[in-house]
Amino acid sequence: MSAVNLSNITKKFGNVTAVKELDLKIEEGEFFTFLGPSGCGKTTTLRMIAGFYYPTAGKVKFNDRDMTTVPPEKRNTGMVFQNYALFPHMTVAENVAFGLKVRKLERSKVKEKVKEVLGKVRLEKFIDRQVSQLSGGQQQRVALARALAIEPDILLLDEPLSNLDARLRDEMRTEILRLQRDYGITTIYVTHDQVEALSMSDRIAVFNEGRCQQIGTPTEIYNDPVNDFVAEFIGETNLYNVAYENNRLHCADLGMDIQVEEPLDERLRNQELKISIRPEAVKVSDEEITGLNVLRGKVKIVQFTGAAVHTLIELSKGVQLKVTTLNEGPFTYLQEGVEVVLQLPPEKIRVVPSIRERA
Ligand SMILES: Nc1ncnc2c1ncn2[C@@H]1O[C@H](COP(=O)(O)OP(=O)(O)OP(=O)(O)O)[C@@H](O)[C@H]1O
Ligand SMILES: [Mg+2]
Repeated sequence: MSAVNLSNITKKFGNVTAVKELDLKIEEGEFFTFLGPSGCGKTTTLRMIAGFYYPTAGKVKFNDRDMTTVPPEKRNTGMVFQNYALFPHMTVAENVAFGLKVRKLERSKVKEKVKEVLGKVRLEKFIDRQVSQLSGGQQQRVALARALAIEPDILLLDEPLSNLDARLRDEMRTEILRLQRDYGITTIYVTHDQVEALSMSDRIAVFNEGRCQQIGTPTEIYNDPVNDFVAEFIGETNLYNVAYENNRLHCADLGMDIQVEEPLDERLRNQELKISIRPEAVKVSDEEITGLNVLRGKVKIVQFTGAAVHTLIELSKGVQLKVTTLNEGPFTYLQEGVEVVLQLPPEKIRVVPSIRERA
């Protein structure tokens, strides 16, 4: 098992800077996720940890060992590539044994190990099947078994579930977590799927344009995003521009001053700001609400999703607000076109700096 320490890592490809000044410490045995939109530098970072790329600047350490320019075969990392990268004309067993044979492990030991990991990913029955004759989900598990077979110190998974259907993806998430807990391997998981990140990780690093925006537990990232990019990328949210003047936070879009729980942090006072409030934090009623930050609107769209009901409310001047409520029975849904009263509870509002361009 290893901790991974990245300090001040930059990676350039010609004049493209894929990763900028990244500092990151991943603890031993941790399930750590890189989350971010396409092209933000997730794969590049993973490849620098595996040794397929060397950083342009900065250091990669496993525990206290400097690994920055150590070749991949000497790092003892197991990697699952986005496209599986299996050998299609070999059998399941041959694929899984590949890394072990490269390491010149004894034949009987190879056989034993292959059986063990195929048992772990529940593929014993397919041991002699050619890989090209497996389903996508089964191939995915072969790739995972191949990475696990070498008993890696660090498991690196690059969007391993992206080609699976929703149900299989769900099953595989549970399977990966079970394996990670069984083996206790330090695991770095790359995804652009925020639900996957929130539900699987001990901690998450959110990337945008080659920079790490925030590192934290799923609840920290969701409940206290550091800026508007993170707030919007993780889950649904309502974001509005606000201006801080004379100790007041004025929101032109909502046509009112916004009351928040705490005085605005000094460091935020001369920045471009937004407020973020999650749809499930907004209170909605067809009767009067008393309290702070009360406004009015009209129900535009009601979307029923089973457990939850998503309602889009039109406020004045074409400004919209998303509200999510639990499904509390067929007579409780709001009807489209109805006038409603809304409240943004002060303790649920986050004031964040805006790093995105103003709309
Ligand atoms: N070998 C390369 N040569 C030149 N540019 C590259 C190379 N690899 C990646 N890049 C660029 O570096 C940036 C980061 O790429 P990277 O593959 O790390 O993104 P990613 O976050 O994994 O995206 P995705 O979610 O689409 O897989 C992109 O702008 C990409 O075009
Ligand atoms: Mg990628």
